[in-house]
Amino acid sequence: MITKSSPLESDMEAYEIAQASTEFIRMKLPEDYRNPSVVIVCGSGLSNITNALEDSVSIPYSQIPHFKESTVAGHAGKLVVGKLNKVPVVCMSGRLHTYEGHSITDTVFPIRVLSHLTKQPEGEVPATFIATNAAGGLNKSYRVGSLMVLNDDINFPGLAGLHPLKGPNDERYGPRFLPMSDAYDQSLRQKFFDAAEETGVASRRQINEGVYAFVSGPTYETRAESRMLIAMGADAVGMSTVPEIIVARHSGMRTLAVSLITNVCITEPPTLDKDESGIEHASHAEVIAAADEAAKDVQAIITHLITKL
Ligand code: HPA
Repeated sequence: MITKSSPLESDMEAYEIAQASTEFIRMKLPEDYRNPSVVIVCGSGLSNITNALEDSVSIPYSQIPHFKESTVAGHAGKLVVGKLNKVPVVCMSGRLHTYEGHSITDTVFPIRVLSHLTKQPEGEVPATFIATNAAGGLNKSYRVGSLMVLNDDINFPGLAGLHPLKGPNDERYGPRFLPMSDAYDQSLRQKFFDAAEETGVASRRQINEGVYAFVSGPTYETRAESRMLIAMGADAVGMSTVPEIIVARHSGMRTLAVSLITNVCITEPPTLDKDESGIEHASHAEVIAAADEAAKDVQAIITHLITKL
């Protein structure tokens, strides 16, 4: 028997609830934006992209039925729908994280809703889901301010049971056993690199492809944890994105994700022999400052990429 602490914990009901939230959003939009084909999730400090949208409409999460609110500094908490380079897009300005206390189901509920809003007619190219995030660099060659296009991930909380698809599966979205070995669409990754070249960003900013380790947070990693993540094959670490990618894929969208490396993780074992007073430990202020600096370049790449989907 399933005990329900939240109405969203039964996927069967969740489908209808997500449809109702979608209709609420649709009614707030001008007719030509009612079926955008691109979702962009703006990570920490990366919400500036919403300023580039033309004729935009903003809807605070607090107004949307069943949406929870983001409580993190740097995450605004509104949907912004408009045209980016003439393409209708919907941006999540501010995402939800489980470390805020939201259930994993509530965290990904907006993604389910946006999958309904952006569902394209049968036979057309499916909608594109683009996630951006701030992440700590584990790969020793990564610099602060560099970008990493995700080509794979390690879902730590998911492997341990905190998984967004846990519970009854609704086949109207997707299959029970969703493959994740092709989660990060190869052609979208290629398009990102092409757009980085064509906009000139690639010549001034390091851009890599790599593996993102999703951890629950909210603490930043200990040095031993960072070494463990490196040993497991991760290049960067962060507290978001992977549940969103899973649900976007499960809902039939094509998915792309990009990390902005806002800090480099410290991996040297602590010692009594060396003076450690000069070491810069990760801080949210540092993360926001690095994101601010790079946000324009991320925006330039995405604005260019969007016309080639
Ligand atoms: N660890 C986890 N999440 C992060 C980090 C980090 O170092 N930097 C930005 N988000």
